[in-house]
Amino acid sequence: MIGRRQFLAGAGALALAAARPSAVPAEEDGEASLATRARRKGLSFGTSVSTAELRLPALRAAVAREADLIVAQNELKWWNTEARRGQPTYGAADAIMNAPEFEALTRRGHTAVWYRSIPDWAKAEFSAGRGEAATLKRVRDIVAHYRGRIVEWDVVNEAVWPADGRPDGLRDTPLAAAGGLDLMADCFRAAHEADPDARLYYNDYAVEYASPGEDEHRAAILTFLEAMKRRNVPIHGFGVQGHLTVGNRFRERVFARFLADLAALDLKIRITEMDVSDQRLPADFALRDGKVADHARQFLDVAFDQPAVVGLVTWGLADPSPWLDAERARPDRLPQRALPLDRDFARKPLWTAIARSLDGAAKRG
Ligand code: XIL
Repeated sequence: MIGRRQFLAGAGALALAAARPSAVPAEEDGEASLATRARRKGLSFGTSVSTAELRLPALRAAVAREADLIVAQNELKWWNTEARRGQPTYGAADAIMNAPEFEALTRRGHTAVWYRSIPDWAKAEFSAGRGEAATLKRVRDIVAHYRGRIVEWDVVNEAVWPADGRPDGLRDTPLAAAGGLDLMADCFRAAHEADPDARLYYNDYAVEYASPGEDEHRAAILTFLEAMKRRNVPIHGFGVQGHLTVGNRFRERVFARFLADLAALDLKIRITEMDVSDQRLPADFALRDGKVADHARQFLDVAFDQPAVVGLVTWGLADPSPWLDAERARPDRLPQRALPLDRDFARKPLWTAIARSLDGAAKRG
């Protein structure tokens, strides 16, 4: 049985094929970039860029060709911008933000506050009972530094983790211990004061799949966001990281429901870090590429069906993915094929899946 979307896509493709004139305008041809396809629907396609990748001219060109938004993969994290207290180092982030190839692209900021990126000196501040002040200064400094240039921030990343057992659902970290929900709310307020025009996101992972753990996580995130809204915190969106793994249990209804619940809180939604781990698949390239593409297509079709979804960002544009291969290595240690382009920057089936899904999205108003 074929689903409604596949049927419509198929019917649309037939109609298009019949109607297509021999000279196809560039905008309509099959080569159109992901950014072009996204733009046609009022969506955005972006990707992360790392310092190592920035050194590759072919990668820079591929990003400029395919994307309309960039995000620095690590360079804006606290440990990188202020490894030593009071001595900000924005060089690595600026190199990405200011690369001439990326001039026309939108810039996202990732991330002002993340428990995994607290520099050692700041950990000492937390131990000394001054963590709250240090955190809020960090938020003000980084957002103000890029005021007007970075238009959207992940203000807080991965702060909710009900399995840790705190009554407020927060992850048990120095941040939660220092100020709990009040501190989280103040982080958004500080970001808003530092750049009143920036769109402010809460970003998290483990919300994509159907499992008891992720059910509980989604519910806790909604509770957290409701609490922020109730306090009139300036928060505009939720980032679904979208680190996918082929073989995990994806249930259309479960994910669609979560997105609808977020939208009902008057939040925009962006998929902010998508990659597709092939960790559990055999080595064969064609097999992996096909399954990775199918898995992403299922996920993205549901995502783009929700009108509050504004776009997609992938966590890297071209294989390999150093972070996946380090943190979620395949048992055979082969590089994963998790990203839209291969290592020669050629488009893979995952690229096509993203393109088809964007083509099938309804145009945003
Ligand atoms: C990862 C980077 O990709 C790695 O290079 C780094 O060593 C650790 O952080 N969720 C996030 C991202 O929000 O910041 C993480 O990025 C991946 C998981």
